[in-house]
Amino acid sequence: AHQWRGLIAEYAEHLPIEPGEPVITLGEGGTPLVASAALSERTGARVHLKVEGANPTGSFKDRGMTMAVSKVAAAGGALVLCASTGNTSASAAAYAAHAGLPCAVVLPAGKIAAGKLAQAIVHGATLVSLEGNFDDGLRVVRELGQRPDVALVNSVNPYRLQGQKTAAFEIVDALGDAPDIHVLPVGNAGNISAYWMGYREYAVAGHATRTPRMWGVQADGAAPFVKGEPVENPETIATAIRIGNPASWSLATAARDESGGRIDAVSDAEILDAQALIAREVGVFVEPASAASVAGLLARAAAGEVPAGATIVCTVTGNGLKDTATALGETPIDPVVVPPTTAAVADALRLV
Ligand code: F0G
Repeated sequence: AHQWRGLIAEYAEHLPIEPGEPVITLGEGGTPLVASAALSERTGARVHLKVEGANPTGSFKDRGMTMAVSKVAAAGGALVLCASTGNTSASAAAYAAHAGLPCAVVLPAGKIAAGKLAQAIVHGATLVSLEGNFDDGLRVVRELGQRPDVALVNSVNPYRLQGQKTAAFEIVDALGDAPDIHVLPVGNAGNISAYWMGYREYAVAGHATRTPRMWGVQADGAAPFVKGEPVENPETIATAIRIGNPASWSLATAARDESGGRIDAVSDAEILDAQALIAREVGVFVEPASAASVAGLLARAAAGEVPAGATIVCTVTGNGLKDTATALGETPIDPVVVPPTTAAVADALRLV
């Protein structure tokens, strides 16, 4: 049986990595592309979810991190540093741990989901809590990244996008061609840029006959691309994409415009509704930011803007287990308690 070897080994010929260079891998990539009858029915399209929560640390960041940290190792090591809304820090901490390198993460105070914080801590990273938002953190770490003893692994590190572009390769490999439309959440805007690069490169290499329209989705309170300018105080329940001044601004607008795509915004309520729908009708537990992609697709479908029968892939970027508090909301965990007898359980289940 074929064992997935991690995306650098699988796609080496498409990546800037030389034979003999160290490869820091946790087996990332090769994630499920799940066809959803429920979402297809609701939209009149053929909808698939690219389930990036299945990566080793539970988000798509691992794709970029295997490349970025491999390059840090190749260069002889340094302090692996990032600013993060949570997932990048979890991934950086894990890959640095695997490589035996020190890691430090700069996090907006009070705005990181508990599971992501736990990941950074258990993997041994040094945490710095910033009295500011992600955009402030990124400004600071970009300055510190100038030092020779520091390696910045945010998506301004070009190796990050190189790794992340492989998700587009996997989708083309699974579908036999590119989809008509690709939908994904947009925060710092690295991922939409990486997918667009991946789709274009794979078409040029002869693996696809076309490229998809790129549809980005932001949260209403953190939607600089919709506003057309940075947002000073971004706010959304989807803390992963609580970003007002995206680093990959021009790459993302190029992805949108060259692909004939669009970037829209959805409300926090739409995000939570989509998260619940994906959980109950697809059987995939995603974090709020990830659900923005599906929320955006459903909004376009409601507006009659989804072409009938189109093949659509929505990236769901992170695992719901990272942020159970937001998913449960006011819902208490208080199942009925019964004695350990078949009769009592049958009675609780009304199996009379
Ligand atoms: N979805 C999730 C779950 C994320 O964690 C992020 C970004 C995005 C979507 C947006 O991707 O930034 O490439 O546009 N999280 C970063 C972090 C900012 O620090 O973990 P993007």
